[in-house]
Amino acid sequence: MVEKIQRVAQEIEAAQIGNAAELEQFRIAYIGRKGAIASLFDDLKQVAPEQRRQVGQELNQLKNLAQARFDQAQEQLSSTTAGTATEAAFDFTLPPVPNTLGTRHPLSLVRSEIVRIFERIGFNVADGPEIEDDWHNFTALNFPENHPAREMQDTFFLSEDRDKLLRTHTSNVQVRLMENQKPPLRSIMPGRVYRNEAISARAHMMFHQVEGLYVNKGVSFKDLKETLYYFAKEMFGQDTRIRFRPSFFPFTEPSAEIDISCFICKGEGCNICKQSGWVEIGGAGMVDPNVLSNCGIDPEVYSGFAFGMGIERITMLKYQIRDLRLFTENDVRFLRQFKGVI
Ligand code: DAH
Repeated sequence: MVEKIQRVAQEIEAAQIGNAAELEQFRIAYIGRKGAIASLFDDLKQVAPEQRRQVGQELNQLKNLAQARFDQAQEQLSSTTAGTATEAAFDFTLPPVPNTLGTRHPLSLVRSEIVRIFERIGFNVADGPEIEDDWHNFTALNFPENHPAREMQDTFFLSEDRDKLLRTHTSNVQVRLMENQKPPLRSIMPGRVYRNEAISARAHMMFHQVEGLYVNKGVSFKDLKETLYYFAKEMFGQDTRIRFRPSFFPFTEPSAEIDISCFICKGEGCNICKQSGWVEIGGAGMVDPNVLSNCGIDPEVYSGFAFGMGIERITMLKYQIRDLRLFTENDVRFLRQFKGVI
């Protein structure tokens, strides 16, 4: 017993207490109710009565030693923390550091807003490659070989045989979705697209679109109209109206161009809508049965609608931006104006 007491005393003296965790470990090991000293006190009952007094005294000394070691370490620790706190204290004489938050790019803001609006009515987001092959960008979408419709979109080809290209629209993702998944499909597909065009205030060789696709049993033109009407109201304000103008796309039949009522002049006529009261935001239509069967979906069973809108176009309308080139120039005076817009 006496030996044990001595051993514990040595341990206590040698204990390393450098931080709060070690201090707590020390307390549990020696001072706590389940610590070494408490258990030695329990053992005292087994000591022969004539030695008990002597051993009891030694035990009490050990207890005092542990407590003293604890107090001293605690004192030391609190004074060193106080020391560092004083050293790290804020220096009020320093000049302020201008710590400004960055801003999100207007195209990212609008893309997220579009995604949020469609997610609320059950669309999920899908993605596809920017380097595409002829099948997914053209052929599967019902662009006949050597058909002038291919010339509607000036393509950057990446290979001599014209089979590798930079996608000219996000419609390629429609094809990939229909090939890989079974209906019902309800997705929107935002992404970057490329066309071989001279850069000006109104055209760029790189821009963004968001594609939409809904394929199911019994999808009708009415569903398309309602969906885009809902989108237009959420995006541009509840009093926005939409109109469909007959148009042509190889991959939809019938096809339409989508206009929204000009939310700047409320249809009165202004220079944003070129006095017409309407502005175009994209194209749409019922997925052509040929496209469905090209992608392995039976057009006798399923029908679908699709649409494609320009994200730059929507952003320019929403924020009245007059030059496309601003989006890629990274002029902070332009970008900073979107501060705080979520
Ligand atoms: N891909 C067309 C373009 O880039 C836009 C488009 C029109 C997409 C009609 C569609 C659609 O999905 O149905 O001009």
